[in-house]
Amino acid sequence: MIRDKGCGELNEGDIQSVLTIAGWIFRRRDHGGLIFIDLRDRSGLCQAVFSPDVAADVHERAHDLRAEYVIAVTGEIRRRPVGTENPNIPTGMVEMYVRRLDVLNEAAPLPYNMEEAAEAGEALRLKHRYLDLRRPEMQKNLIMRHRIAKITRDYLDERGFLEIETPMLTKSTPEGARDYLVPSRLNPGQFYALPQSPQLFKQILMVAGLERYFQIVKCFRDEDLRADRQPEFTQVDLEMSFVEREEVLSLMEGLMKRLFKSVLDADIETPFPRLSYGEAMDRFGNDKPDLRFGLELKDMADLASKGTFKVFLDALASGGSVKAINGKGMAGLSRKEIDTLTSEAQSFGAKGLAWIKVKGGFESPIAKFFPEDVLKEMAARLEAEEGDLMMFVADKRKVVYDVLSRMRLELGRRLNLIQPGYRFSWILDFPLLEWDEEESRFQAMHHPFTSPADGDIAAMLEGDINDREMLSSLKAKAYDVVLNGYEIGGGSIRIHRQDVQKRMFDLLGITEEEARVKFGFLLDALQYGAPPHGGIALGLDRLVMLMAGAPSIRDVIAFPKTQKAFCMMSGAPSSVDPKQLRELHIKTDVIVDKT
Ligand code: AMO
Ligand code: AMP
Repeated sequence: MIRDKGCGELNEGDIQSVLTIAGWIFRRRDHGGLIFIDLRDRSGLCQAVFSPDVAADVHERAHDLRAEYVIAVTGEIRRRPVGTENPNIPTGMVEMYVRRLDVLNEAAPLPYNMEEAAEAGEALRLKHRYLDLRRPEMQKNLIMRHRIAKITRDYLDERGFLEIETPMLTKSTPEGARDYLVPSRLNPGQFYALPQSPQLFKQILMVAGLERYFQIVKCFRDEDLRADRQPEFTQVDLEMSFVEREEVLSLMEGLMKRLFKSVLDADIETPFPRLSYGEAMDRFGNDKPDLRFGLELKDMADLASKGTFKVFLDALASGGSVKAINGKGMAGLSRKEIDTLTSEAQSFGAKGLAWIKVKGGFESPIAKFFPEDVLKEMAARLEAEEGDLMMFVADKRKVVYDVLSRMRLELGRRLNLIQPGYRFSWILDFPLLEWDEEESRFQAMHHPFTSPADGDIAAMLEGDINDREMLSSLKAKAYDVVLNGYEIGGGSIRIHRQDVQKRMFDLLGITEEEARVKFGFLLDALQYGAPPHGGIALGLDRLVMLMAGAPSIRDVIAFPKTQKAFCMMSGAPSSVDPKQLRELHIKTDVIVDKT
């Protein structure tokens, strides 16, 4: 046996025992006669003391030890002298007096100081991910991720779900991002797509009578990356037959309750509050509201129309909107600070930011365009009091919502309004279809297999296919689960009737032929007795990020990629051997030299 115990497991019960522990050297301090080493393994840290009085030769050799050497040490566990205890670590009451030292492996000089990893820069950390992952914070994240996956598996297993794998080499799926393609050597000129989700396969498993499926599964999407987006990420994906929306929602609420209790000892209140998509948009400007603070958006169209400010009137006349938020206590901002705020709004897409200070009356370049009583009504609607700053954006609806929802988050942070804790919500009653200005046609808001609301099926099947207003008003049986401003999951009850599915394709401008080419296998399956079914997929990375309190999903993924979808450690993607390309019948005219 190389060791008797983990470094982090030593405790007062070990006092006077002679034990062997092994691990990495985290820190070495030379105090004249004594050398102290903090030894670290996955279980934690402990202090090893090298004293010439205990073993002179071992003490001498300890001078040569360097950070991250792997060593095993044997010695007596003693109580730390009074005043030298370290209450910050679990092993802080004891220390080992080393009699024997085995250097199991040396380490080259480190590329950065591991104690200052945070300052080292993410690129360096990602390149040497094996060092980065040695840090207790990173190990804590991966351990938590394991626990979350394990509890999820148990929870679903207890409820009759089967974990079934679906193919990674497959056809394009309908989640709306770009596919990652894999060329087929045996079928020259043809490509597999890596799945954006197992959507089509899980529906087919329902047609196949498996009734309850789940999978903790990698999904691949070639899209622009952000702190909460990776090109490959993990879903807790599930599908159920013979269910309605409520069963899916309460299943997920139960899972969250169990996870937060077991992992964080946090009590989550269920059922989660529910907001319709329309309400979430109106109050928060987006469909993933952070409910940990207020600062809600208020509609100002009626009041704006009672004034003569051209910017507002023009926006309204062209079908846009005017909305505002209340910057609590921000009336003290200088002109310069307000200019900065305006530039921020502009960087989010606004043309400008109109503002009114409540400061012994109304102080603003635009106050003159409004009668006093209208200004008062504005303040009342925003609950603006002395010392507050009302901020307005007028534009196309989409711009107003987008800018103000981002301003809201920014101000929430800046004004310290965000309460600690976990605030879940369900977003329901999404539109079925979304008008795509650029392509001048409807897109599915979720994906084309999402069922319309029961009450909307007749209108969908029989209504005028050119009636944009009617089509925009159709609702879907879709749901998203949101936590602290992040969409952590989404799903729907699916279409299981062929006539409805066919009509859906018509509305999306997908011809029968295109549908056959893209999803023919699902359409075939749906002909042969598809049960009513529905499901959901949770973004596991996002959930773990939030539970671990990490700033990015990169911190909860062992080997993540950068913004440019590059793996700093392995160097992927990279050029390949010309022979490999010839075998695949692929020619490329781009030559990359990364050396
Ligand atoms: P959707 O596309 O909403 O639904 O994805 C489900 C959840 O996956 C997470 N997610 C991501 N996480 C990290 N990086 C990404 N690039 C990324 N993209 C999505 C989000 C999201 O809520 N097949 C449907 C589910 C269904 O209808 O059952 C689907 O994939 O947390
Ligand atoms: P202007 O009349 O263009 O000088 O603008 C007067 C004020 O209105 C300035 O504070 C601008 O930042 C602001 N403003 C301009 N366009 C908009 C807009 N679309 N929405 C809100 N405020 C705006």
